[in-house]
Amino acid sequence: MTMYDIIEKKKNNLKLTKEEISFFVSGYVNNEIPDYQVSSLLMAIVLNGMNDEETTNLTIAMANSGDKIKFNFNAADKHSTGGVGDKTTLIVAPIVASLDCKVAKMSGRGLGFTGGTIDKLESIPGFKVQLTDDDFINQINNINIALISQTKNIAPADKKIYALRDVTATVDSIPLIASSIMSKKIASGASNLVLDVKVGTGAFMKNIEDAKKLAITMVNIGKNANINTLAVLSNMNQPLGNNIGNVLEVKEAIEVLEGNGPIDLKELSIELATYMVSLYKNIDYNLAKQEVLKTLESKQALNKFHQFINAQGGNIEKISFNPKYEYKVYSKKQGYITKMNTEEIGKIASLLGAGRMTKDDIIDYEAGIILNKKINYYVKENDLLATLYTNKEIDLTNDYLKAIEITEQPIENELIIEVIK
Ligand code: URA
Repeated sequence: MTMYDIIEKKKNNLKLTKEEISFFVSGYVNNEIPDYQVSSLLMAIVLNGMNDEETTNLTIAMANSGDKIKFNFNAADKHSTGGVGDKTTLIVAPIVASLDCKVAKMSGRGLGFTGGTIDKLESIPGFKVQLTDDDFINQINNINIALISQTKNIAPADKKIYALRDVTATVDSIPLIASSIMSKKIASGASNLVLDVKVGTGAFMKNIEDAKKLAITMVNIGKNANINTLAVLSNMNQPLGNNIGNVLEVKEAIEVLEGNGPIDLKELSIELATYMVSLYKNIDYNLAKQEVLKTLESKQALNKFHQFINAQGGNIEKISFNPKYEYKVYSKKQGYITKMNTEEIGKIASLLGAGRMTKDDIIDYEAGIILNKKINYYVKENDLLATLYTNKEIDLTNDYLKAIEITEQPIENELIIEVIK
């Protein structure tokens, strides 16, 4: 078997065998196959695709390329395909943990226009994102929840392949995205998994058709790997909630757990938590939803959040929010907001300091945006649309205005598009 023949086969739109897929994945991880040959194969996969069997084989080969975690309990997990203002993990994880489900979660940092849960948690003074294996397991056994950054050698093949995809224009491929996400979930020991597949201007998947294909592919891979998997397709045509930026997002998550907060964030969090509880306890949706609403209402989920933050050394009281600069964005015309270029808004938040444009950038936890008006809000001239917060002198108000479209009629804009089981 040679890498040349494997590339040739995919170039001719033929199906790769399990052995051929394992050959290229292990060869690449072991530095036996050079970047240029793998890039060429990746491009052939982008152009010609992979069927379900090939995608599952690729996922398993990547999941088997490093450490595999096995819990001696049932673990609940959720994964978002990445968006702007998405702080649902901070809300959903404590809700689910407060209902006797064990949440063992490893999260990532943000890059580019999307945020990452680990950065948000690190904006809480004292919070430790790394725990020893024993502490991680003990904490889950004691309080049902621990959330850490990925320290183990989870799916190293994905890490290497993803870095190559990032610089060879081969990210946007459904089999490559699905196998990348699911290989990490399989290796990190999830037994019940709710996927939040984002669709819209602030997501990898810009249209519903592609998002649905991605969701179906991931749900099938999960089922083949004996993980109870379900996917919610949710709207990312505007940021989720009103706050973008690390400290701002932690504050907004707490607002929701306190029973307040923006309606879209609350609704999606309740939906994701309901499906997690329903899968974990094998109970029907309505029953799970009653439990979720009750734990929110009684503030047990809020108490669980504080217990979890304290357990990992965080001190909510010490969060500071005094950014040096505040730039207000006012509307130049009247009408309904009908388009928000969410990727651009995410990039603006990153440029303010809330995210990283490269892996080595340092985050300003206070930087971010508070949105006053979102899709289908009617605005008049000079109404406040948003406030940009930062510790550097950088006026991006015009960029924000360019990311928004105002027209005469409102549009249809549903938050939860479909659920794939
Ligand atoms: N997230 C991942 O982990 N992998 C992808 O390919 C895309 C998004």
